[in-house]
Amino acid sequence: MKKLVIKGGRKLNGTVVISGSKNAALPILAASILLNGETTLTNVPNLLDVITMLRVLRTLGIRAEYYDGGKVKIWNQNSIKHVAPYELVTKMRASFFVIGPILARTGLAKIPLPGGCAIGSRPVNIHIKGLEQLGATVRMEHGFVIVSANKLQGKRVYLDFPSVGATETMLMAATLASGKTIIENVAREPEIVDLANFLNQAGAKISGAGSEVIEIEGVDALHAIEYEVIPDRVEAGTFMLAAAITGGDVEVNKVIPTHVEALIRKLQDAGLKMQIEENRIRISSSGRLTAVDVRTLPYPGFPTDLQPQMAALLAVSRNTSVITETIFENRFMHVPELNRMGADIKIEGSSLIINGVEKLSGAPVRVSDLRAGAALVLAALVAEGETLIEDQDHHLSRGYENLVEKIKALGGDVVVPNPISALFNKA
Ligand code: UD1
Repeated sequence: MKKLVIKGGRKLNGTVVISGSKNAALPILAASILLNGETTLTNVPNLLDVITMLRVLRTLGIRAEYYDGGKVKIWNQNSIKHVAPYELVTKMRASFFVIGPILARTGLAKIPLPGGCAIGSRPVNIHIKGLEQLGATVRMEHGFVIVSANKLQGKRVYLDFPSVGATETMLMAATLASGKTIIENVAREPEIVDLANFLNQAGAKISGAGSEVIEIEGVDALHAIEYEVIPDRVEAGTFMLAAAITGGDVEVNKVIPTHVEALIRKLQDAGLKMQIEENRIRISSSGRLTAVDVRTLPYPGFPTDLQPQMAALLAVSRNTSVITETIFENRFMHVPELNRMGADIKIEGSSLIINGVEKLSGAPVRVSDLRAGAALVLAALVAEGETLIEDQDHHLSRGYENLVEKIKALGGDVVVPNPISALFNKA
């Protein structure tokens, strides 16, 4: 799916069922390295990033298969390799998450530094410092991080920032350490809680996930289990915003409302009506919304992963909104593209000054990263005329399962041009 053509102006109506969470599935797949035997995961989204993680597991010598319907099976019987391949880790940053479980299981891990990406430099210093505090020896060689420890030792550790990835690395590493680990200033995201639930079901002793302090009593081994991944709160939020921007009436099904609480509050402040039930949220939009100010923060604050999509909504809302991005230094790549579609957004340092316009107009635009791509899709759904979204690096397929089918089922006009017929039409 390198190109999408969207004709804007149709209100989205109907029901959309949210897929399993990408950001929960990826660390859980990495954590499955710690489990002995045959593990089954369900509600795993069919995404490029998930396939990349399965390939990482296979290169380590673990058999891992994806089945239709979102089931993954992992057979972890033999000894595993300790080197993760450069081409996979640099392709997907989350592959770095295997560092903790490989180290805990084999005593040695050699993982390429993931490098930066479109949204920022994204270092891994907090992961590495945390592992060192558990007694690992760390050295850098030829672009690889090499960590070793005969047996990790439980300790009290303070994270300099509540990094999601570093919290996950520490959870996975400390699970098999000797003694008790107490980690302070941890991330509180729902994906952390899901990882802890997965590990606990497999025999780990983790308490406090979801709060600022997590305690882990080390155990000797983990056993295989069957586990269902939580729904994707970012996909749910994206469809809530798609309903809002098109003035539609959409029931978002299989969502955990508390996971999207910050978004719900902002949308209510902007004047959107919502019916919230246990596992679904119905959005009934009746026209243009009003400006709101948004600041991205670690959970339970407003998620950075919904900032670009929120910018698209506010670009067509009344009055002036300010969005401040505090998590990533370079997460405004969607702004020049939205402006090409007629938005009036200025970047001032880490803030966006968004003067709402009455309408956007279709234009050719380019996707720089996953959530920027989602923002362009939302803008295209409301823009006058046709928008050609170029996604050369398949960002949208990395993070949204069946995106085109789901939008079509809600009445959106989106097509993926067949590359051969597109050439034929041009000639
Ligand atoms: C995860 C999510 C990503 C989301 C992000 C923030 C996955 C697979 N990805 O990414 O979608 O946008 O959380 O909610 O779950 N940092 C450091 N040093 C470190 C680690 C992080 O400086 O060692 C910085 C990062 O550069 C960034 C900030 O901390 O500026 C937050 O990063 P982090 O919470 O670690 O995000 P990820 O786990 O990479």
